[in-house]
Amino acid sequence: MIILGIETSCDETAAAVVVDGREELASSLATSEELHQSTGGVVPEVAARKQLEFFVPVLEDVCIKAAPKLGLSNYTEVLNKVDAIAVTVGPGLIGSLLVGVNGAKALAFAHNKPLVPVNHLVGHIYGNFLRPLQHSDSNSSDHIAPATYLDNFSNEENIFPALVLIVSGGHTDLVLMKGHGSLEYLGGTVDDAAGEAFDKVARMLGLSSYLGGPLISKAAAECRHNSLLGQLPRPKIADEDYDFSFSGLKTATKNLINSYSSKDSPLPLNEICCEFEIAVVDVLIAKTKKAAQANNIKSILLGGGVSANKQLRTRLLGLGQELGVFVSVPPIRLCTDNAIYIASAAYYNYRPVSADKLDLIKANPGLGIVDQ
Ligand SMILES: Nc1ncnc2c1ncn2[C@@H]1O[C@H](COP(=O)(O)OP(=O)(O)OP(=O)(O)O)[C@@H](O)[C@H]1O
Ligand SMILES: [Mg+2]
Repeated sequence: MIILGIETSCDETAAAVVVDGREELASSLATSEELHQSTGGVVPEVAARKQLEFFVPVLEDVCIKAAPKLGLSNYTEVLNKVDAIAVTVGPGLIGSLLVGVNGAKALAFAHNKPLVPVNHLVGHIYGNFLRPLQHSDSNSSDHIAPATYLDNFSNEENIFPALVLIVSGGHTDLVLMKGHGSLEYLGGTVDDAAGEAFDKVARMLGLSSYLGGPLISKAAAECRHNSLLGQLPRPKIADEDYDFSFSGLKTATKNLINSYSSKDSPLPLNEICCEFEIAVVDVLIAKTKKAAQANNIKSILLGGGVSANKQLRTRLLGLGQELGVFVSVPPIRLCTDNAIYIASAAYYNYRPVSADKLDLIKANPGLGIVDQ
């Protein structure tokens, strides 16, 4: 089955053509990320306007890339050839989502194709299900723990039940996945998401005014000795529940930073980044371990933008060895938002709406990970 996936939940406009949920034929992505640097975060109206500007060029680009792989010669032939169109319906920014949802509806109507609504957070899980691309996904020379793939499994009996940890810019969720489309919420953040905390701390440190996770991670990797180890709190680490809280950690980091200016001493930037990163990862690993031990799981699947974090990937793979369960971490290119895993999620959670019933599909900015 050939699915054209469309993703426009925030500041990325993406489209991809994927075969049978596993094989990426082509993908295209444009982002308005740079624009949001000057405002220190996304201005929803600006992001939506950029979605509108990028939508058609991204769609044309992906179809032109997919055409020769399908033995076709142009954009229209690709749109006629696909079996279904999939689109992110939420969660996300309403203006951005509306561009994707309405654009996808127009395409589905014009080409008489079924449209499959996809939950963006469920999409993050499917970064683990795609076949690796030769050369790029297996490259560990960037010092990022290499991806491990569900390709290692011959059948899904060896995957499910799986424990899913989603760590992204807007969400931090622990979910029990009994099979495709069967998700049980275990816990999540009660305030800031892990990615949001990374971004806010990066801003406090003057590293970046918008997305700062990779910069914190880079500075932390340059820390040779962390004399601050244990100075920041590990919120809720010993609590019985599976919830997270990163807001207090953010404030504690701010206080630590301020303590240097009041002492008039130089800021140990790399050490602060290192201690902050360890604090976040300590909590993520501790809660994941507790949930893994309490549920009879066969694998742990990681997803979301923060899953690009080397320390998290490495320690989660270590946890898998300790517990004797398989751990899958997505390839770096499938951690942050894209349409490849949206098309994959649509294949594995196939709920098509025919072209004459498109009114049934609506953008839903507040969708949770277990919501259909
Ligand atoms: N190496 C890294 N270390 C830590 N955080 C990272 C790293 N790379 C990316 N991130 C963080 O990932 C987040 C972006 O992830 P993603 O694109 O999944 O979020 P989103 O789509 O905005 O949110 P959501 O998926 O919840 O709607 C940002 O907060 C970014 O700082
Ligand atoms: Mg995301």
